[in-house]
Amino acid sequence: MRSMRRATVAVRGYGNKDPYGSLIPPIYQTAIFRMEGEALKSDRGFDLKYSREENPTLRPLEEVVAKLEGGLDAVAFNSGMAALSAVFLSSLDADASVVTTAEAYGATLRLLDSLGKFGIRLRKGFPETEVVVELIKEVRPRLVFVETITNPMLRVLDLPEVVKAAKDVGALAVVDNTFATPVLTAPLSYGADVVVHSTTKYLAGHNDVVGGVAVVAARERLEDLWIWRAMLGNIMQPFEAFLTLRGVKTLFVRFERQCRSAMAVAEFLSEHSKVKEVIYPGLSSHPHHGVAKKLFGDKFGAVVSFKLKGGREAAVKFFKSLRLITPGPSLGGVESIATYPIASAASPIPEENRKMLGITEDLVRLSVGLEDPADLIEDLDQALRS
Ligand SMILES: Cc1ncc(COP(=O)(O)O)c(C=O)c1O
Repeated sequence: MRSMRRATVAVRGYGNKDPYGSLIPPIYQTAIFRMEGEALKSDRGFDLKYSREENPTLRPLEEVVAKLEGGLDAVAFNSGMAALSAVFLSSLDADASVVTTAEAYGATLRLLDSLGKFGIRLRKGFPETEVVVELIKEVRPRLVFVETITNPMLRVLDLPEVVKAAKDVGALAVVDNTFATPVLTAPLSYGADVVVHSTTKYLAGHNDVVGGVAVVAARERLEDLWIWRAMLGNIMQPFEAFLTLRGVKTLFVRFERQCRSAMAVAEFLSEHSKVKEVIYPGLSSHPHHGVAKKLFGDKFGAVVSFKLKGGREAAVKFFKSLRLITPGPSLGGVESIATYPIASAASPIPEENRKMLGITEDLVRLSVGLEDPADLIEDLDQALRS
């Protein structure tokens, strides 16, 4: 067979050597593997002796995600933050500098800030391509970290430009591709070194499991991350890997439908009298619509952010009035979730930065799920009018 198309890879892109011919790879619910002198080896050559280091349940998931992202291999963790921690700790020494954007998932920024106590210096640029590229040239950092679509203002940097600037100064380019997923773009294909996902979001996709993965382009990075995962003890657990692999199989159908619904919701909100502003990279009014089109084609993700007329009071009323959409943190699952960024994902961002970035108290972030978009629109309309 010629090489599989990507939607087929999501379903069948792993070797399954189950001796009983089980279609679905089994869960190896064990802490220990038999050792008769030598340890057995996993398919990628690592010792298979203890489940804090390697467990075969994770391999199909790691293999499929690596193929979807165009990487050499992947390492699965027990959360997105665990994956990011291992990537940063494995690649930074004391005195290293990191360049990132002032806007990113709040816990990631807090983690990078916290590395300051080990002597690691962090510089944050406004999330505009030219600003970040200039900062990289000035600082010449060890590592550049960016998100494909920023959380929560959905900015889209010209990633090939940013990655090229990182490579030009010899920096490691790390991209969080959680919001875009490999359905929209694969950053390793334009030179990034590591791609990270919170698999909690679209890859698992059902709001029922927390996890993360780091995809690497080079063997040396794989070995480093594998050792750090074992040292930090933050490997993904077998049942979580089973659920996440099941989620990945439907990634393409889910995400394509969620992107279409998000566009319908964004268009509806743009016309609504109670809405001040809609932020969605698929709208021509979005400042990065051109870059998004260049990178993603005709799909723009399934998160829509918007600002309400009436400030904090209107926002509080809106969240209380939702009947179908669940108010809460996170995104990427089949159930739609409305998030109040200043109270959750963006709360670790310092207030003056939030102001500069436009993360205001009237801002709502909506993760569009798999409900009929007409029901979502009805719920939004009644909550906005309440
Ligand atoms: C873009 C992004 N990266 C990383 C994370 C962290 O992932 P996790 O919650 O699985 O640790 C999140 C969580 O919301 C996120 O939105």
